[in-house]
Amino acid sequence: MDSILPEGLVAEALPTHVAFIMDGNGRWAKKRVMNRVTGHEKGARSVRQVLETATQLGIPYLTLYAFSTENWQRPKKEVDALMGLLTRFLKNEKANLVKNGVRLHAIGELDRLPKDVKKTLLATMEETREGDRITLTLALSYGSRSEMVEAIRAISEKVASGEVSPSAIDEALVSQSLQTRGIPDPDLVVRTSGEMRLSNFLLWQSAYSEIFFTDTLWPDFSEEEFYSILREFQGRERRFGKVLEP
Ligand code: IPE
Ligand code: IPE
Ligand code: MG
Repeated sequence: MDSILPEGLVAEALPTHVAFIMDGNGRWAKKRVMNRVTGHEKGARSVRQVLETATQLGIPYLTLYAFSTENWQRPKKEVDALMGLLTRFLKNEKANLVKNGVRLHAIGELDRLPKDVKKTLLATMEETREGDRITLTLALSYGSRSEMVEAIRAISEKVASGEVSPSAIDEALVSQSLQTRGIPDPDLVVRTSGEMRLSNFLLWQSAYSEIFFTDTLWPDFSEEEFYSILREFQGRERRFGKVLEP
């Protein structure tokens, strides 16, 4: 496995969980005087690329922010195109996911997805559940605040029923009440397209993530750039608030 590692990367220091805010599809298309949807279609190539790279490197968790709770406010035509694209992507990739040991997972307000999209998503999750090389989590109709509200509601119900006492509410319980339960917090969050914000993505989970912003638009994001971000990640000192011994 080590032999395939690109120069400068150390297997032991690779992140366990990388999360991407895939941004810039619209601008990629606009620059070429194309329809925004063409940008989203091109973005699918980067998804395949990043997934393949992470799988080959042995990174066990990859999360991709594909559609936010706020993205529902985009024009219906664009939302419909994105949903269609997602369904096609899942159907086309299913065999590859299984072959490559990818387990598909999804977080977000999945009930808001069109019926056929949700059905395809759940079926793909079911068919890939034996995947043991990498867990690919799609954040779809996802918003961190909505996820936290849902967790607060679930904890409140346990308190109301007497199952949990308020003094027993701790960080572990909150983490377990989020949709990302069972998935380690991301070590690395990458946002493409030059925007420097989190846009409601994994706000609780990214408390100590290393964050990288690149100007590259998502459809242009390459394997080489992924490697270079991983190299920089390995050079960063993660202190978690402590003072490290000299
Ligand atoms: C990211 O690209 C994909 C989604 C948010 C669905 P955008 O569609 O946000 O592209 P820009 O930011 O307008 O360039
Ligand atoms: C964030 O991108 C959501 C996804 C990448 C899915 P947006 O393009 O929706 O975010 P803003 O509007 O620039 O904050
Ligand atoms: Mg955007």
